[in-house]
Amino acid sequence: MNADGRTRLNQTPEWTALAKHREELADTRLRDLFAADPGRGTGYTLQVGDLHIDYSKHLVNDETLRLLRELAAATDVFGLRDAMFRGEKINVTENRAVLHTALRAPRDAVIEVDGENVVPQVHAVLDKMSSFADRVRSGAWTGHTGKRIRNVINVGIGGSDLGPAMAYEVLRSFTDRDLTVRFVSNVDGADLHEATRDLDAAETLFIIASKTFTTIETITNATSARNWLLTELKAGPEAVAKHFVALSTNSEKVSDFGIDTANMFEFWDWVGGRYSYDSAIGLSLMIAIGPDRFREMLDGFHLVDEHFRTAPAEANVPLLLGLLGIWYGNFHDAQSHAVLPYSHYLSKFTAYLQQLDMESNGKYVARDGRETDWQTGPVVWGTPGTNGQHAYYQLIHQGTKLIPADFIGFAEPVAELSGELKAQHDLLMANFFAQTQALAFGKTADEVRAEGVPEEQVPHRTFKGNHPTTTILAKELTPSVLGQLVALYEHKVFTQGAVWNIDSFDQWGVELGKVLAKRIEPALTEGTEVPGLDASTTALVARYRELRGR
Ligand code: F6P
Repeated sequence: MNADGRTRLNQTPEWTALAKHREELADTRLRDLFAADPGRGTGYTLQVGDLHIDYSKHLVNDETLRLLRELAAATDVFGLRDAMFRGEKINVTENRAVLHTALRAPRDAVIEVDGENVVPQVHAVLDKMSSFADRVRSGAWTGHTGKRIRNVINVGIGGSDLGPAMAYEVLRSFTDRDLTVRFVSNVDGADLHEATRDLDAAETLFIIASKTFTTIETITNATSARNWLLTELKAGPEAVAKHFVALSTNSEKVSDFGIDTANMFEFWDWVGGRYSYDSAIGLSLMIAIGPDRFREMLDGFHLVDEHFRTAPAEANVPLLLGLLGIWYGNFHDAQSHAVLPYSHYLSKFTAYLQQLDMESNGKYVARDGRETDWQTGPVVWGTPGTNGQHAYYQLIHQGTKLIPADFIGFAEPVAELSGELKAQHDLLMANFFAQTQALAFGKTADEVRAEGVPEEQVPHRTFKGNHPTTTILAKELTPSVLGQLVALYEHKVFTQGAVWNIDSFDQWGVELGKVLAKRIEPALTEGTEVPGLDASTTALVARYRELRGR
C-alpha cells in the first residue's frame, strides 16, 4: 500500500491480470490475429478529428484492450484528467495547476485557477501577439533605423525553443517566405554566430523566450545578441526596444535585462515549458504563419482536448496510445519507442516529442515519494522515413529488441509541390505502408525458400515480423492537424504518467547538472579550485585548460 492509500501499481489485481494475460499471449503472432479476424484491419481503428488511427498491428486482442482499460480505471486516469482540466494543482511537487489546455480554450470558456478565470488573460495575450505579428508581417513594425523587419530569431532552449522550432518546420509551406526565421538555443557560440552572420541587424528582431528568464543559456545568448545588434548598428541601448521582445512569466527579470515590459508577451506558471508552444512562446511561429493559421492550430489542439476529456475509454485515442505504450514497456520490457514521420516537414517532430515525453515521464519516484518498481517513460527516438529505412530500420526489423513504433503519414503532399515532386508522394507513402506491413508480418523461412534462396542464406533473409506499430494517417498536414497531433501526444504522455503515478509536470532531474556547470565554469576560466570535485572531472578540467593554453 502507498502512503496515499493507493495499492502499489504492480500489486494491483489489474496489473497482475495483465502480466498473466501477457504469458498467455506469449506465442501469439500478428499473422494469426489477422487470420482469425478478417475485420481486424478496419475494426481496430479510431478517428479523432482528421487523424485516422490504425492500431490493428499491435500485439493485442479485445481482452488485452479490456484489461488495459481496467488498469486505467483502477489508476483513475480519468479522475486525474478531470482534475487537470478543472485547474486543480496536479503538479504536486511544484504545487501548480497544469492548464496548457486553457491556452486553446475558446474565448467564452471558464477555467479557474485559485478562483480566477484564466481564459480572458489567455485571449488578451493572443490578441496582443496577433496585432504584433501583423505589424511585423506588414512592415508596420520597423527597426531602430526605420528598416522593416525581415529576420526573426527566437532565442530560447528546451520548451522555449523545441515547440516553435518544430512547428515552424512543420508549417514551412504556410509561412511568409520573405521572412527569415531562425532558432538559437545552444550556448555554443556557434549557434548564434551561424544564425546572425549573414543578416542585417537593422532588419532583425530577437524574440527572447524563457519562462523563468533565468536560464543561463538563453540569457547568455540574449546578451550576446544584444551586443551584436548594438555593435552592428553602432547604436546605444535605445535601439533595443525595436529589436527585442520577450516571452516570459517573469516581468521583473525581463525588465532587468533591459526589455521594456510593454514588449513582453506573458504566460503563466500553470503552463509547463514543454507544453508551452501554443502560448506566447509561439510568437515566432505566429509571425511566420500569421495569426489566423496560428488560431487554426489552436483549434486543432482544442479538438483533441475535447476528445480526450469526453470520449469513452473504448474510443479515447490518447488513452489507447498511452495504454499500448504501457503494454510494451511494462509487460514486454520494451525500452524505447520510435516515432517515424513520413513527411520531410516533420523532421523535428520526434525531437520535440523527446522533451515532451522524456522530461515528463523520465522519473523513478512516484507521487508518494517512493521509488517506482515498475518501468516508466521510454526512450523516444526516430527521424523521418524514408531516411531511417536506410539507416536504423535494420535493427527494428531483425535486431534483438522490441521497438514499438508510430508511423505518421499524409494522403496529400503539401499544396506547394507540383509536377514530378508532387508525384513522388505516392512512392513515399508506398514505403510508409510497406514498412508497417513488413514489420508486422515479416517473411517466413518457407516464403524465402520458395524464392529459391540458397538454404544457408535462408535464416539471414527471414523476417520474424511481429513488430507492433500504430499508423496515424491524415489527409494533409495543416496547422489544425499539427495541433491535433501534438495534443494527442500530450495526452498520451499524461495517460502514462497517471497510470505510473508519477508527476509528469516537474523536471527536478535537470537541476543537478545546471548547478554543477555553474560551479565548474570558474575552474575553466580562472583555474579556481572546485571544492569536492571528483578525480576524473578534476583531471579533465586540467586537461581542458592545458589544451586551451591556460
Ligand atoms: O532545463 C529544463 C527546462 O527547465 C525545461 O523544462 C524548459 O523548457 C527549459 O529548461 C527552458 O526554460 P525557460 O523557458 O525557463 O528558459
